[in-house]
Amino acid sequence: MKEIGIALLGLGNVGLGTYRILTQHAKDIERRLGARVRVHHVLVREPGRARPEDVPSALITHDMKTILANPEVSVVVELMGGLSPAREYVEQAIASGRHVVTANKALLSAHGEALFSSAIARGVDVHFEAAVCGGIPIIRTLREALASDRVESLTGIVNGTTNFILSAMADEGSTYADALRRAQELGYAEADPTLDVSGMDAAQKLCLLASLAFSARVSPGSILVEGISTLTPADIAHGREAGFVLKLLARARRVSDGLDVRVHPAFIPAASPLADVKGGFNAVLLQSAALGASLFSGLGAGALPTGSAVVSDIIDTCRGLLAGVSGRLPLPCAPNVQDVPLLPPGER
Ligand code: NDP
Ligand code: HSE
Repeated sequence: MKEIGIALLGLGNVGLGTYRILTQHAKDIERRLGARVRVHHVLVREPGRARPEDVPSALITHDMKTILANPEVSVVVELMGGLSPAREYVEQAIASGRHVVTANKALLSAHGEALFSSAIARGVDVHFEAAVCGGIPIIRTLREALASDRVESLTGIVNGTTNFILSAMADEGSTYADALRRAQELGYAEADPTLDVSGMDAAQKLCLLASLAFSARVSPGSILVEGISTLTPADIAHGREAGFVLKLLARARRVSDGLDVRVHPAFIPAASPLADVKGGFNAVLLQSAALGASLFSGLGAGALPTGSAVVSDIIDTCRGLLAGVSGRLPLPCAPNVQDVPLLPPGER
């Protein structure tokens, strides 16, 4: 049977979840692809550290050069996080003709356009379903299923850590600090959880969603971002008395002269479909001209939900490789289209 070789960069929460889905679902994946996906290397920061015993130690490396030098590796799967060396490794992978799958929204929201342009020039795929809302197939939905439609607005709960914290404070009377610690134990939080609680992780994801939904270029630096770290149990209690639930919302909508894109805590009516989205769950509510209202929900963080999105991207990439149709346009809009103006942060 034909084999497609891949390398995983990272064996943390998502890397291990991805490895386990690839191995535990190997037979199903083979039946779907008519080919076997073989992990050749797993890159980590500390190769000497003990690893779960289902990951053969022979796969572990700290050397990106070994991966780039292996002609059997066709797909590089970046699950390290952060900007550097993730950016350099992804650039090197693309330059060497490897397809890339990444879950790194920080990287894509900062350098996505340059990376996508290099990928187009080199004729390779870049897939990033896992970068937004973990296991919910929202990137594919916007890029493929709704490519025919005109999205008018998008409202989401797109950060599992903050949703877990707010749910635990509201429903269990947890303290903020205890709820954050539990979200970290569940593998939801970023290596630097400030990104979660400041709203920046949600902003990075919202920018990817808004770029796809509105064929626009939207970056976190140009939108209003407010996190949850100053919220108190009293805020949650006051909202509840008035029939509202406090959530960190990511919102983007068309306005007469452009786009309004923002992340901030908001009181939403207890009857809203988003009020019931609790714990590590995420949801995105879309309003589009042809389909009308649609709601997508599921686990937005954690090893296996996120790993499932990564593996679906690996399978998609392998399908392209097997069919000889790689290098599909990964950009939110065609190059050289005019930018859609953004409402300045703070203006309503
Ligand atoms: P972790 O911190 O759990 O894992 C990071 C992995 O990358 C570790 O194996 C680490 O090695 C390795 N690594 C980090 N820096 C380097 C380096 N300089 N050289 C080599 N290896 C390195 O992160 P997560 O798995 O939680 O997240 C990974 C990515 O997925 C991030 O981009 C994150 O934003 C994204 N993501 C995470 C989700 C989640 O639920 N956690 C959900 C969706 C996306 P070592 O093991 O030796 O420390
Ligand atoms: N830290 C992120 C979250 C991981 O809590 O949603 C998923 O992207």
